[in-house]
Amino acid sequence: MNQDQLKQMVGEAARDEVLKLPTGQILGVGTGSTVNYFIDALAGHKDHFAGTVSSSNATTERLLKHGFKVLDPNDVVSLPAYVDGADEIDPAGHMMKGGGGALTREKIIASMAKQFICICDSSKQVPVLGNFALPVEIIPLAKGIVTRELEKLGGKVSLRLAKTTRADLNQTPSAAFVTDNGAWILDVAGLQITDPITMEAQIDQIAGVITVGLFAKEKANILLVSNASGVDRIVL
Ligand code: A5P
Repeated sequence: MNQDQLKQMVGEAARDEVLKLPTGQILGVGTGSTVNYFIDALAGHKDHFAGTVSSSNATTERLLKHGFKVLDPNDVVSLPAYVDGADEIDPAGHMMKGGGGALTREKIIASMAKQFICICDSSKQVPVLGNFALPVEIIPLAKGIVTRELEKLGGKVSLRLAKTTRADLNQTPSAAFVTDNGAWILDVAGLQITDPITMEAQIDQIAGVITVGLFAKEKANILLVSNASGVDRIVL
């Protein structure tokens, strides 16, 4: 079974999970390739929900294409559930997120939800977070100072670059990746995050940081994880 099949399988399991919610509720929807499978699997059941709240422009586009109603988060008071993937998840349910660059809106929507349903394949399960470089969304003019502060934590910091074509590479220096919020992302490699709650608070306090891609204070409540033999449902 390849990774796409594993993502599809867990996307379908997440569909079955959210269909247990009473009808007429609003659902929070994350971002990424695993979530895309979830959205596609849920498309045939869109009338089960009064609407959705989306964590990125890409997710909004996909939801609208399938005919889901997408609401402004400001018009929504609470959500029963938020479904999203992760780049890494530890045994306690602390997550590293933001590989797709949508971390800030993901954290906002997740904070509105009663339950975070994390969906991934088993390659995302790690004993300690940090193999994946930690994404930190920043105000562009703070790049220098935030980089220096993050280096003090022992990581190797690099500015995330936009995907460029071969022609771009020949002609112009690579440009920064720009988030849906008009901000930049620093990726911090080489951290061993043994205390994610403390590190999340520490990085959040650096002036110029918008959001750190550690989801520790508000971790996953339910983990659906696919492997070659099926999908495990873990309550955290
Ligand atoms: C998006 O910014 C991320 O937080 C994603 O949720 C995370 O990168 C998982 O994405 P995949 O499902 O594509 O691996």
